[in-house]
Amino acid sequence: MTARSVTWLDGAVPAVRLLDQTRLPAEEVYLDAATVDALVDAIRTLAVRGAPALGAVGALGVAVALAQGEREGWDDERTLREIDRLRTARPTAVNLAWGVDRVLPHRSAGHAAVLAEARAVLTEDEAANRKLSANGADWLLAHTTRRPLRLLTHCNTGFLATTAWGTALGIVRELHVRGQVEMVHVDETRPLLQGSRLTAWELDRDGIDHVVQADSAAAGTILRGLVDAVLIGADRIAANGDTANKVGSVGLALACADAGVPFIVAAPWSTVDLATPDGGGIEIEERAAEEVLALAGVPSAPVGSRAFNPAFDVTPARLIDAVVTERGVVEPKSTPDMLAS
Ligand code: MRU
Repeated sequence: MTARSVTWLDGAVPAVRLLDQTRLPAEEVYLDAATVDALVDAIRTLAVRGAPALGAVGALGVAVALAQGEREGWDDERTLREIDRLRTARPTAVNLAWGVDRVLPHRSAGHAAVLAEARAVLTEDEAANRKLSANGADWLLAHTTRRPLRLLTHCNTGFLATTAWGTALGIVRELHVRGQVEMVHVDETRPLLQGSRLTAWELDRDGIDHVVQADSAAAGTILRGLVDAVLIGADRIAANGDTANKVGSVGLALACADAGVPFIVAAPWSTVDLATPDGGGIEIEERAAEEVLALAGVPSAPVGSRAFNPAFDVTPARLIDAVVTERGVVEPKSTPDMLAS
């Protein structure tokens, strides 16, 4: 059976089944979250992560909250409070709140209607990923000359980060199917190693040739001409194209701009936030100091050192060659503010 990051488990006590991403690549284990507490914990610990996967969890999570509320006799106020806790469990990826907001209006039509809408979110995400991957592959092949391509990616944007297939990694996958990938440079993605733990695991499963590199190797890799394009995903794309993504993304964009290497952002339309005019309005999640000050539980800095641990950064639209969604490709450098129109 194809592995899925997020699925619905029907039953007397329904749950969201998550492929626990904190345990990869060592173990492929699933956790079943049947309560809002369990879902919030899974989101905060990154057992489930990646913007589109969070959108799916937000949508299915409303169904979990309603079922829990019924079991435990919550009143309307408590139910909405619990759903809001889920909605705000992580602040940067717009998809989490988007998933909740998409299904919540169906509450008046009953639980079945909420669940049907949540299932539609999952189906549509897969279709969007497949379409944007084809769009991105077409664009890249039209804007590069070397064959096959040498690519660089950051964080994890594959099936683990979505409901299926992937976004930036979906484009890599699509190019691989077309026989156009020579090699993928995978940034390890400190501090939580989504690149080395998750992206390398996905590429390995697909038989796509790759190397894992320290994040600090990326700028040199780009300036030395070792890659033909850089592809990243997005947690929130503002109306002007400014893009929040995993910390380290903006440095890649700066190196690409200097080297003349295409820098591509890939995301489903659910990640575009037209209500936020530019990147200045995007909240950047700051995470626990231990993530930076220790390696696998062993201190890596003197006791007493403090940490700065932003989980994301914002790449200005002027540094992005292409924003790829299922609706098509926008080129922010040549057509600023195109997303909003
Ligand atoms: O902190 P994470 O692992 O949730 O961060 C994920 C990213 O930054 C991804 O690049 C983004 O969500 C896009 S996933 C298709």
